[in-house]
Formats: sequence, C-alpha cells, structure tokens
Amino acid sequence: MSRKMKNKVITNLLIERIASEGKCLGHHEEKVVFVTGVAPGDVVDVRITKGKSSFMEGEPVKFHEYSKERIDPFCSHFGTCGGCKWQHINYDLQKTYKRQQVLDQFQRIAKVEIPEVMPTLGSEKTRYYRNKLDFTFSNKKWLTVEQIQSGEDFDRNALGFHIPKMFDKIVDVDHCYLQGNISNDVRNELRTFALANQLSFYDIRNQVGLLRNLIIRTTSTDQAMVIVQFGENDSEGIQKVMEFLNEKFPEITSLLYVINTKGNETFHDLELVTFAGQDFIEEEMEDLKFRIGPKSFYQTNSEQAYELYKVARDFADLQGDEVVYDLYTGTGTIANFVAKKAKQVIGIEYVPSAIEDAKLNSQINGLDNTLFYAGDMKDMLNEDFIANHAAPDVIITDPPRAGMDEKVVQMLLRLNAPKIVYVSCNPATQARDVALLGEKYKVEKIQPVDMFPQTYHVENVVLLTLKS
Ligand SMILES: C[S@@+](CC[C@H](N)C(=O)[O-])C[C@H]1O[C@@H](n2cnc3c(N)ncnc32)[C@H](O)[C@@H]1O
Repeated sequence: MSRKMKNKVITNLLIERIASEGKCLGHHEEKVVFVTGVAPGDVVDVRITKGKSSFMEGEPVKFHEYSKERIDPFCSHFGTCGGCKWQHINYDLQKTYKRQQVLDQFQRIAKVEIPEVMPTLGSEKTRYYRNKLDFTFSNKKWLTVEQIQSGEDFDRNALGFHIPKMFDKIVDVDHCYLQGNISNDVRNELRTFALANQLSFYDIRNQVGLLRNLIIRTTSTDQAMVIVQFGENDSEGIQKVMEFLNEKFPEITSLLYVINTKGNETFHDLELVTFAGQDFIEEEMEDLKFRIGPKSFYQTNSEQAYELYKVARDFADLQGDEVVYDLYTGTGTIANFVAKKAKQVIGIEYVPSAIEDAKLNSQINGLDNTLFYAGDMKDMLNEDFIANHAAPDVIITDPPRAGMDEKVVQMLLRLNAPKIVYVSCNPATQARDVALLGEKYKVEKIQPVDMFPQTYHVENVVLLTLKS
C-alpha cells in the first residue's frame, strides 16, 4: 500500500516538528511523513516521493499556512542553491532545533543514561563565517521555470554552486553570504573577465572547457588563497586568467592554479603551480599559528572552530601530566591546541599529507611533545601501538561522519582511558558509538556547537568518563 503512495498528494498536512537532516515531520493516517523545505507550524500539501511501510517522504507542493516561526530568507539564491537550507528559520530557533536533534539521536540510538543536553553554543557570525568556498564553472547554468517559460535566450555560462542532486547544473551566484573578505568580488570579477574574453566554461557532461573550478580560502589574518582549476592545458588562456587575478586583486597572498583533465574535480593527486605569492596561508588561534597549504584541511568556520576546541579542551580538563591521544587528528589542530596543557599528545590520521602538516604546525609553534602517525585508525590503533606508546589518560576522538569503526570502539574499550572526549559532526553515528562505549563509560556532558549557521548541521561534543 505504501509504495502506491508515491507521487500521491497528501493535503493539509500540519508540520509538527523538526526531524534529522533538515527535514521536518508530520503524521498522515498514523504514519510519519518526512518533508523537506518546510518549517514546524506550516500547513502544506505534500507530494510523496518515497513510500515505505513505516514512513513516507515528500516535498511541499502548496502552502496553506505559513508557520509563525518563519522569517524571510536573506539570500536571493535561497531555495535553488543547496547551501543554506535554514535561512527561513530564525537563528535562536535553529540553535534550539540543533539541540533537539542531538537529544533525539541520543534518546533514540544511544539508549544510555544521559545528562541534560546543554544549549547549542551559537556562532557569533551567522553570515560570512566560512573560510573556504568551492565554485564550479559550467556551460549549463540552472534556469528557473520562469526564465524557461519567458522564451528569452539566456547565456548559459555560470560560476557558482551545484544544484542539489543535479551534477551538471550550476546556480550562477551573484552574492554568497557564506564567505566575506574578497570572495564575492573575486568570483564575480573573474566571471565578467572570462565572459568578456570568451574563455570557455567547463562542460561537465562532456568534460571539455578551460575554466573548471575556483577555490577561495580566506583567514582571520586577512590572507587569501585563490586556486583556479583549468580543464585544458591552454597556456595562453591560463596566463591571461592568472595575470588578471594577480593584477586586479593584490589582496590575494597565495595565487595558484592546477590543470585538471581528470574525470573529477579533486586535485589531491595533482601538482599545483604557485603563480604568485606564497604556497600557503596562515591562521591564528590563541598564540598558535597554523600553516594551511592548498591541499590541507582546516575547519571551515575558524572562529567557531576555536570555540569547539575550547569545549574539547575544557572537557579534557588537562592538568599538564596527561598522555592524550587525538584520534582522527587531521592536520593536528586539536592535538597542537591542547599540547601545552599535556605531557604528550599522539595524533593519528589517515591522510599522510595531513600528518606532514600536523608535524609542521608543531614545529612552527615550538611544540616538542607531539607525535603524529599516518594510517587507518582500525589498523594503527592495535596492541603493538599501545605496547610501544604510553597508555592514554585522555582520548580525544573526532571521526568523519560515518563515526568510528567498531574495531576502533572495541580498542577504546580495551584501552580504559579515564576520559574520552568525543567530537562529532554527526550525532547519529556518535550516539551509536556511545551506545557501545556505554559498556564501560558514563556520559557526563553533552555540548552541541553550531559551526554552520543557516544549515541543519550540528557538531556535538560528549564527555565520557570510565565507570568505577
Ligand atoms: C572530522 S575530521 C577531524 C579533523 C580534525 N580533528 C580537525 O578539527 O581539524 C576527520 C578526520 O578523520 C580522517 N579519517 C577518516 N577516516 C579515517 C580512518 N579510517 N583512519 C584514520 N583517519 C581517518 C579524515 O581524513 C579527517 O582528517
């Protein structure tokens, strides 16, 4: 019966509350209906896109009543661009919903005793908070229904973001509220220059075209890195573009390019050319400096990353004589951040170049009590490793969205560290791992942190202590 519901329209559905991943939910004939693009309090007609025996999913086709909680989205691209899906909800409510998501996941999945979930630690900046954006050039600009129906001829070259679930359609962005400094100017001026000089925009489907991708990274120290990806090895065209950027934007402190003729946009395996300036930018946090190369990861909301790391450091409550393991250390930012308060910090991470950055960042900051190792966590963190290193007093773990491999969780249970500080960008997998750790650990504190205002994403820090 449920599958037959696909494409059916349920009328006058009251949207009751927020669910996970930015969806909201209502009930139809005692079944939960998850709906995208709505707010609690809306009354809508919903077209069902997926029907399962226990739930349905759908999208709104008509609004009968708008929730009183709604506010006007500030961005002209809202609804088309997949970037900031919660602009129609005021920021205080966004924080409440993020806390609610954490609570729901822990009640539903962790099923262990939990303390009160603390209110979400909000981001001071709710706009222009990102330090990195990635724009795509395309000759398939996304046109709205009105534009198509107008019968007008539109230039189809675009520079902006992918439309969700449509890999070759790009929304042409004129202003993005996610990144400040020179970001909007660089993107718009480069687009104007490319159009005026008839440089080709990438054809994503057929994989041809000169201009492919633009990455802009900015810092709180007013440095800026710009990386242009070219889809063709046309030295004249490349020179033109790079000279233009170099002359027009003296604020760019690191100007690079890469020729990428592969099937995908990742350039980790490609050689980058530094056209002007340095091949890195630097971010600062307290008295630490972090060097960020074009291939290095750095948390994308720098100011809020500082708040997040402070929560992790407070939860760890280091006295100076502890051995700390920083699992999934990335470029070692947390490890270096807590190093002055610990006897030794050991960071483990999958990506070898990130580990090189982590070591470099320790060196730049004069930290000599850190050790970093590259490898898959489930293979690295084994009995041999433990036998060759001091046992941890505190484990800080910050895995990717998928959470920790069960083998890693089992190892943590054998390690018996008195404290585990678990940082996660996915409370669902975090709750799953906490359920397993619950065999030996008690949940002491839960602190959601908002790294990404205007989105449903929530970061969460949990303090676990060994049961006596
Ligand atoms: C959420 S990031 C943590 C970043 C870091 N703590 C920070 O704040 O900058 C997760 C990290 O886990 C690494 N990673 C993913 N899978 C891994 C695995 N199986 N073994 C080791 N590291 C892994 C990723 O490369 C990434 O750097």
